[in-house]
Amino acid sequence: MPFPIKAVRSAYPALTDGFAYLDGAAGTQTPQMVIDAISSAYRTGIGNVGGAFPASHRSGAIVTGCRAAVADLVGGHPDGVILGPNMTTLTYRLARAIAGPGDEVVLSRLDHDANVRPWTQTGATVRWAEVDPVTGELPVDQYAELIGERTRVVAVTAASNILGTRPDVAAIAELAHRAGALTYVDGVHATAHGPVDMRALGADFYATSAYKWAGPHIGAVVADPALLETISPDKLASSPDTVPHRFETGTAAFADLEGVTAAVDHLAAMVPGTGTRRERLLTSMAAAEEHERELFAGLIAGLETMPHVTVYGKPARRTATAYFNVAGHTPRQAAGHLAGLGVNVWNGHNYAWELTGALGIRDSGGAVRAGLVHYNDASDVDRLLEGVARLSW
Ligand SMILES: Cc1ncc(COP(=O)(O)O)c(C=O)c1O
Repeated sequence: MPFPIKAVRSAYPALTDGFAYLDGAAGTQTPQMVIDAISSAYRTGIGNVGGAFPASHRSGAIVTGCRAAVADLVGGHPDGVILGPNMTTLTYRLARAIAGPGDEVVLSRLDHDANVRPWTQTGATVRWAEVDPVTGELPVDQYAELIGERTRVVAVTAASNILGTRPDVAAIAELAHRAGALTYVDGVHATAHGPVDMRALGADFYATSAYKWAGPHIGAVVADPALLETISPDKLASSPDTVPHRFETGTAAFADLEGVTAAVDHLAAMVPGTGTRRERLLTSMAAAEEHERELFAGLIAGLETMPHVTVYGKPARRTATAYFNVAGHTPRQAAGHLAGLGVNVWNGHNYAWELTGALGIRDSGGAVRAGLVHYNDASDVDRLLEGVARLSW
């Protein structure tokens, strides 16, 4: 059955403004049901959690529902879902609790800086996994050398937010686990682009952000609750010491958490399906992945055939994310020209600090990023390619 792109697009009010939204890797638009869920939480009345009155109970139920939804999305356990404002904040918090001076951490230059700097700043010794700058691949074989008996954590991305590279995380995790190390997998970019099974990936920690997959600005890190029991982050004396609560600081954005659950429900319902929400998510996200793959084949082939365009990377397994420069134009100028034609793309290093450094383009403004998500269609791709073609004049 073809992906019901018209129905999917019609769920997003913002997509009617005439722009081609190819900036999804920096944050997606929001479906009406997510907007409704957030406003309904406020309209119905919410309180802080732990009180004796119904509005407080409603907030408690929202948090529980959100943990269950995120667990379904990534194949984790609801009691191991840590919720917070964004992935960066949660990763700083976890990194400090997990690693420190005397430990070794293995980081990759493929990663977004949010899965790099929180680890380097723990004081642990850093060992680097390098990227092939031509293909954009992260070779697995180097990990056998990098991981040793002092390795506490191997932090690696499930997909690059600029090149789209999907490294072989399962193989890296196997090497890490053999040495007794933990894996911290950045799924912020990957989660939007296909079904996720964090156990199959070998992720001890799997980080994601709902605003990359149709939800509000909320981050989550998912782990086995038994593993979380062994870690003690800094916390207030007065806040709960239970798991996963002890990893969460302050008062949660309850209405937004209701929006996260609605976003997961939206993703699960993009294509007709039966079974549990987890089963419907697997079906629906596989269909979305195929839809993106088909559209992206035309997008990347179109860019690669333009003589004035340099495309970075050619990874074998990738998300529908293209990173390129246009001769004679800075990335900002190219993005500005496309914006004038109603095409939203990003420009810059996009926080892929190490990777743009390895590609030798960080100091010259990085490149242009155009990415597809489930709600993009063929006309978005056509408009991008026409706009970039016009830059050769
Ligand atoms: C791959 C990747 N990791 C981490 C992050 C940081 O996520 P957050 O904005 O939730 O802190 C981003 C955000 O762009 C990202 O693309």
